[in-house]
Amino acid sequence: MMRLKGKRALITGAARGIGRAFAEKYNSEGADVVIGDIDIARAEQTAEEIGAVAVRLDVTDPESIEAAMAALRVSGGIDILINNAAIFTAAPLVEISREDYARVFKINVEGTLFMMQACAREMIAQGRGGRIINMASQAGRRGEALVAVYCASKAAVISLTQSAGLNLIEHGINVNAIAPGVVDGEHWDGVDAFFAKYENKPLGQKKTEVGAAVPFGRMGTAEDLTGMAVFLASQEADYIVAQTFNVDGGNWMS
Ligand SMILES: NC(=O)c1ccc[n+]([C@@H]2O[C@H](COP(=O)([O-])OP(=O)(O)OC[C@H]3O[C@@H](n4cnc5c(N)ncnc54)[C@H](O)[C@@H]3O)[C@@H](O)[C@H]2O)c1
Repeated sequence: MMRLKGKRALITGAARGIGRAFAEKYNSEGADVVIGDIDIARAEQTAEEIGAVAVRLDVTDPESIEAAMAALRVSGGIDILINNAAIFTAAPLVEISREDYARVFKINVEGTLFMMQACAREMIAQGRGGRIINMASQAGRRGEALVAVYCASKAAVISLTQSAGLNLIEHGINVNAIAPGVVDGEHWDGVDAFFAKYENKPLGQKKTEVGAAVPFGRMGTAEDLTGMAVFLASQEADYIVAQTFNVDGGNWMS
């Protein structure tokens, strides 16, 4: 199937992990994919491997965002944005540093908001509508004892999706979000290391525990999320506005 034929998609943070899986799947559905990542070496390698284009993009830097928009403008514009770049942090409340808080909110929240703004401006000027998909998380659905900052940042992504969705639909731009559960990969290796430190567990144990606790019976893979990402960008999702969809093997119901 070529459900995204003729569409141009910018996927942030797609040098690896979930974003990379989105890029591959979008490619196979006929989209023209641009990978925007701060890790340009890895982004270029990924782009070469999957047949996409890479641009250096720091979602926290207005000049970097404008440069990426300018590059898109002269090469066919943009129909789909996946706001996927994010970072994770964990600490007991009494140990959270202002630096960590600012870093996570800058990338996960400010980055998401101003990437939506920049791409929405392009989409409105093009006059052909568009799709924006934000990456939220089950962490945005409820707090977690050691994960206050990341959870709050993902709750903000869910809220931004609602407001942006309501504001942009008059321009034919559908904004929705995906809330994954626990997805195996380099990101979760980092999460596991935080829990090893704070819960005094051997490396790898937290991963085993969270995988066993998923109703489906295992951790997710990046590929488990690609169906929803294609659906939300496709014509079948025309009437879906300002929603966040859990794709998490049954971890959370809302
Ligand atoms: N992996 C999970 O279990 C999980 C669960 C729920 C939600 N999510 C969310 O899904 C998304 C993808 O997660 P992942 O597991 O693939 O993460 P990941 O850490 O593997 O990849 C993140 C990518 O973002 C890039 N990046 C970081 N800062 C950036 C910046 N300032 N500008 C541009 N790019 C930047 C990194 O270079 C990297 O390529 C994130 O939004 C994450 O919060 C992941």
